[in-house]
Amino acid sequence: MDLAQFYPKGLFSGKTVFVTGGGSGINLGVAKGYAALGARVAICGRSQEKLDGAAKEIAALGGGKVLGKAADVRKPEELVAAFNTTRDELGPIDILICGAAGNFLVPAERLSPNGFKTVIDIDLLGSFNASRLAFDQLAQQKGAIIFITAGMGHMPYGYQVHVGAAKAGIDRMMTNLALEWGKHGIRVNSIMPGPIANTEGMRRLAHSDRLRDLSRAIPMGRMGTVEDIAQAAIFLTSPMASYITGVVLSVDGGSGLAGSAGFNGGAEAFLAAQAEGGPRP
Ligand code: COA
Ligand code: NAP
Repeated sequence: MDLAQFYPKGLFSGKTVFVTGGGSGINLGVAKGYAALGARVAICGRSQEKLDGAAKEIAALGGGKVLGKAADVRKPEELVAAFNTTRDELGPIDILICGAAGNFLVPAERLSPNGFKTVIDIDLLGSFNASRLAFDQLAQQKGAIIFITAGMGHMPYGYQVHVGAAKAGIDRMMTNLALEWGKHGIRVNSIMPGPIANTEGMRRLAHSDRLRDLSRAIPMGRMGTVEDIAQAAIFLTSPMASYITGVVLSVDGGSGLAGSAGFNGGAEAFLAAQAEGGPRP
């Protein structure tokens, strides 16, 4: 979708958007959405090579300056360096998108304590680290934060105990930050995507043979696209949402309405295939 058909092309001109995990998938799609509407965009992730490729794709959209800077959201000092470089090269951060995450399917009884901790560290602590360390810039700009969460935080999905705990934690943290930071002019919201086609997240959760069945079970009859999530982020951080803070916006074609039973059956079969020598992500 050409966003400029629906929003002024310069809607985010002069604004700086920082996207954690912006080197791929949904987060890269979100970063591109802002660039298409004129923003300066910074992205971080652990692989500089991946960020360099993504930054080229973003720059090709003709927005403002683009920065790809490696930073692991589990390492506060790396985030501080990335935020400082962003302020120096692009200007203070107006919008922070916390999208960095890790996921894999695993039965709870086979998940090691370190496996659980790893996902909590990336998703939940990483999202706090980014919000906390960008606070001064966001407060200066009266900015906005979006957390990218998931349905697992709101109902149990099989073999996702780590992700459920992490994403539920993020959505509670989101409301706390919205409550406390409104007085600084910062709005804080979450976007909860449903299953999004052609993403690493889906590759890790569902066997490709199952995708058609999964799509049929979604009330809107299709999987989501990265553009669906970008459009929601743009709305929530635009002046049109200036009185919206503390909400989880579900962007899932209604898939959450049907519960997680359909997912769980497929996940079981996918896990069994992995146990028989299939790939472990
Ligand atoms: N099943 C069970 N446990 C797993 C696992 C799997 N598929 N993958 C990793 N783990 C465990 C490891 O065994 C390890 O625990 P241990 O020390 O007790 O053995 C722990 O998780 C950390 O693994 P490690 O590979 O060292 O973590 P990492 O920090 O290098 O990578 C991950 C983080 C595991 C989340 C990795 O999958 C990743 O980098 N993901 C990013 C991309 C992604 O997940 N995209 C989808 C987003 S929704
Ligand atoms: P993805 O492409 O793998 O995106 C995750 C990004 O996070 C990657 O670019 C990864 O880059 C980065 N990352 C991982 N660990 C990091 C760390 N420690 N520090 C910094 N960056 C890190 O997967 P995706 O499917 O698009 O998922 C994007 C977001 O959407 C996630 O928050 C996910 O939970 C959410 N979501 C996805 C779906 C879906 O259907 N795909 C559904 C609901 C919610 P590096 O590995 O290079 O660091």
